[in-house]
Amino acid sequence: MTHELTAAGLASASGKTTESAVEDTVGWWRDAVIYQVYVRSFADSDGDGIGDLRGVRSRLPHLARLGVDAVWLTPFYASPQADGGYDVADYRAVDPVFGDLADADDLVRAAHALGLRVIVDVVPNHTSDRHPWFREALAAGPASPSRARYHFRPGRGADGCEPPNDWESVFGGPAWTRTPDGDWYLHLFAPQQPDLNWEHPEVAEEFASVLRFWLDLGVDGFRIDVAHGMVKAPGLPDIGRGAQATLIGTEPLPFFDQDGVHEIHRSWRLLLDSYEGPRIGVAEAWAPTSERLALYVRPDELHQAFNFRFLNCPWDAAAMRTVIEESLAATSAVGAPTTWVLSNHDVVRHVTRYGNGDGPRGLARARAAALLMLALPGSAYLYQGEELGLPEVTDLPDEVRRDPAFRRTAGQDGLRDGCRIPLPWSGLEPPFGFGPSGRSWLPQPRGWGSLTVAAQTGNPHSTLELYRAALELRRALPGLGSPDAGPLAWQPAPEGVLLFTRPGFACTLNTRTEPLELPSPGRPVLSSAPVETDGRTVRLPPDSCTWWVL
Ligand code: NOJ
Repeated sequence: MTHELTAAGLASASGKTTESAVEDTVGWWRDAVIYQVYVRSFADSDGDGIGDLRGVRSRLPHLARLGVDAVWLTPFYASPQADGGYDVADYRAVDPVFGDLADADDLVRAAHALGLRVIVDVVPNHTSDRHPWFREALAAGPASPSRARYHFRPGRGADGCEPPNDWESVFGGPAWTRTPDGDWYLHLFAPQQPDLNWEHPEVAEEFASVLRFWLDLGVDGFRIDVAHGMVKAPGLPDIGRGAQATLIGTEPLPFFDQDGVHEIHRSWRLLLDSYEGPRIGVAEAWAPTSERLALYVRPDELHQAFNFRFLNCPWDAAAMRTVIEESLAATSAVGAPTTWVLSNHDVVRHVTRYGNGDGPRGLARARAAALLMLALPGSAYLYQGEELGLPEVTDLPDEVRRDPAFRRTAGQDGLRDGCRIPLPWSGLEPPFGFGPSGRSWLPQPRGWGSLTVAAQTGNPHSTLELYRAALELRRALPGLGSPDAGPLAWQPAPEGVLLFTRPGFACTLNTRTEPLELPSPGRPVLSSAPVETDGRTVRLPPDSCTWWVL
């Protein structure tokens, strides 16, 4: 059986289409599949080698055909691009490299016309060092009121030449930089990203206004960058431990996941709810436990939070089951759906993570993991290019790398450019249809000709057609993705295998490296690798996931 055989029939039987217009259905986000567009690397319309908003617009039909519900656009605001646009100088302007406000407006309208909702990034933990507030603060000098919008402090030690505390930047080195007048300022990320002081009333007022600006333009929600970092522990206490970046998401830290952030998110929820919608807030939040993470999605807070535990889980059936169970339990305790994600612009692509040096095995596992994710109740996030089975590019020359952490850690860290390579759309040579010129801001591997959208379209064995079929089925079988359709029930299975049922549906995952015979759970409708079944027993291929209707 190959995966293309049954999806179309089931989808048409359901009467649903992928092209329904955007309607104000309550809770669209609860089981939405949301596609992350890393704007810089998606599609280039003007030939400068950098993706832009017109490029995204021109490729929306790909997303509609893929069958996703919404698009999340990474920051396209005016920015010196010290951290790929996560250093915003003007929150209400489009950076000329990406287009202008009219392009943003056109993009949102075009997406809506295709039935796709649009989520944009908001970056509230820090601004760019070129933001007018920070420039004003630098010019105004120590103890000036304009410095109170950020975290400026005198240093410690003789002449204040040591940082005010021992916090480390996530990108390496101290989290403090000294200004020429002797004061230090806090930046949890690059020095070009000074942290805002959210206790200053103007900060909250300004961001409420920024949110309104984009909501008025028609966006359907926000992905909130560093949603767990906006409030710091009173007095900015020392931690007493180095290598703090390794503790993120596993241990309490005085700069992350402070209780005070929830007040901000509650106020944002009220703001979102004041618009026709629902318009949603998605937290990029790291918390030490699933329970702490679930606090971000209480009924009066944000709608979703990324579930990085799923992304970080190794290829191990028992570990995956634990993460799935704990994630579902923690979010259902607060009445929220869970989110699932395997890749994004900050991590090694999952083909490469799972392959661990073995490309074909990595791809087999990545395909299986995608089917597992899309069979779980809740909302799933796809990262551009995963539908093509793109691997991480690991051999980029140092001089083309842009990740600010690369230079701050002398190349030990900051390898995020490898998952940000411009997408291959068509053709046999770089830039593979990325743009009208031969340029692309990061070089693409020459061998990507067989991975393009054009090359994979119509090939029933391709990863692209697997994703298309999976998303079509997910729409056709509401019992599959919807958290409200009924419970997920684990069934007995041999070691290394997961078997669970949902209403009218079953999913098997074989993480073992050899095939395995099992009683057939139902009728196979989609598989990441060919399954052999005589109706009574099934031979599950290694590293595979299969969907069954009961
Ligand atoms: C998280 C974003 O995903 C990442 O790309 C960025 O570098 C940091 N936040 C800082 O804004």
